[in-house]
Amino acid sequence: MQHGRVLVLNGPNLNLLGQREPDLYGATTLPEIDATLVDLGRELQVEVECFQSNHEGELVDAIQGAPSRFDGIVINAGAYTHTSVALRDAFAGIGIPFVEVHISNVYSREEFRHKSLLSSLAKGVVVGFGPTSYMLGLRGLVDRLRSR
Ligand code: DQA
Repeated sequence: MQHGRVLVLNGPNLNLLGQREPDLYGATTLPEIDATLVDLGRELQVEVECFQSNHEGELVDAIQGAPSRFDGIVINAGAYTHTSVALRDAFAGIGIPFVEVHISNVYSREEFRHKSLLSSLAKGVVVGFGPTSYMLGLRGLVDRLRSR
């Protein structure tokens, strides 16, 4: 893969970044993260498209539609990480390479956040680096796609 395309998906409440629990999630907004990812994509020679939804079904639709347009996905599924059999089944069903990212270190938080329904299907998982988790996830995904 030389000039690939990557979809960045964000799940519920991530549209509130910057105002939501800033002690946990920091002051950076989602549009700022998206812009940084597009810039990093340019550096890595991949086109980055970003999509956020609070609705599980819309995220399922985005995953199902991805293979015809994208080489891989970076996803922060937010709370759906811990609950959504539907998102897991979508990834299992279409088999697109993806990396799971989290802003906070979910393993230092409540027990219910320690379980991810997505991780065992992911190429890699990045947790706890703040917004940098997304950049590390994008770099890791592109690396994986290029070494195929
Ligand atoms: C999160 C962690 C999840 O447990 C939580 O529900 C989120 C954000 C993170 O990026 O740290 O919404 O995915």
